[in-house]
Amino acid sequence: MRRTLLTLGLVVVAAGAAAQAPAPSGAQQQQERQTTQPGNNAPVMREIKSGEKHYTGIQGRETGVLIQPPARFPGQSAMATAGEAWRNFRNGPVTFYGGWLVVLVIAAILGFYAWKGPVKLHEPPSGRQLRRFSPFEMTVHWSAAISFCVLGISGLTMFFGKHILLPIIGYTLFAWFTALCKNLHNFIAPLFIVSVVVMIFMWLRDNLPRAYDWQWFGKAWAFFARGEHIPSGRFNAGEKAWFWGGVILLSAFVAWSGVILLFPNFDQSRAVMQDAWSVHAIAALIYITVSLGHIYMGTIGVEGAYGNMRHGYTDETWAKEHHSIWYEEVKSGRRPEAAGGAVPEGAPHMKEKP
Ligand code: HEM
Repeated sequence: MRRTLLTLGLVVVAAGAAAQAPAPSGAQQQQERQTTQPGNNAPVMREIKSGEKHYTGIQGRETGVLIQPPARFPGQSAMATAGEAWRNFRNGPVTFYGGWLVVLVIAAILGFYAWKGPVKLHEPPSGRQLRRFSPFEMTVHWSAAISFCVLGISGLTMFFGKHILLPIIGYTLFAWFTALCKNLHNFIAPLFIVSVVVMIFMWLRDNLPRAYDWQWFGKAWAFFARGEHIPSGRFNAGEKAWFWGGVILLSAFVAWSGVILLFPNFDQSRAVMQDAWSVHAIAALIYITVSLGHIYMGTIGVEGAYGNMRHGYTDETWAKEHHSIWYEEVKSGRRPEAAGGAVPEGAPHMKEKP
């Protein structure tokens, strides 16, 4: 009986001591594991992936955390670290859906052009010119447009290049070209941001919504498919949608997230960089697809549009048919800046129909 009590007492004391003794650290567990299973480093990896902060001589946010703790991204395995989960998200759904979105929109635009052709004028050009854009407006527009194209092409190369370009041009050229794209992307981004900010102030007034803009949305199909002209101010409702949705909203998303990525030295955590990347890539892919519609309308989609922004002048017939409310304003003297009087000698005209 006494022996049983003694044994019981010893067990209780031992259990208590075990409860109080600190759990062996990852390093201790690893040391033990090394003797039983040489080469198995699971305990140390478990500790590294726990997100626990360890010692490092380099001071800064998360510098003591070697690997981010497991998944923060939805639908990822609990085993995946956040870095791995982000990588899967980038190389999985964003690449797949983003890639197909761009390809399908290009195909749809080209298909539409092949089917319906450009929107044409109903009347022949008059030969009389109105000032549509000032030199300052053209400079701001082309600086935004060219920087946007450089950012778009370099961004797409960095994102999809390894799937499309690498198999064609090989590692050496691809590495060189992608490094060039990365530097162009970083250095051109500030020019784009500044151009867009100036553009917003410059064109805000002419892009304010008006009651007559609703008609445009109702008749948009007739405009694209049959070239029916809908009364509009200096900018029509489609252009206004591009201005508010693209130039303001999507620019805000890409610029805000892009600046976070461009200056990682503001002590952002890795999670903030991953979230910024997600916002940046998704907003940029949407921006690129929407811009394809604008570029189409500004080049081959609407007869005469490109010349307006290339030279700053438009034919009176073009103005009357596409922007009749603006045309009336110019003709009635309410827009003296656009009156045609100052057209310089030799200014390019729309080709007159035979
Ligand atoms: C190669 C690329 C581009 C081309 C060929 C192009 C072409 C044009 C043309 C021809 C116009 C004048 C249309 C008219 O007379 O009503 C125009 C207007 C405009 N463009 Fe572009 N553009 C390009 C890229 C961009 C980009 C990247 C942005 C903005 C980030 C932009 C923003 C605007 C805005 C705000 C207007 C004023 C009308 C509106 O609100 O849509 N463009 N563009």
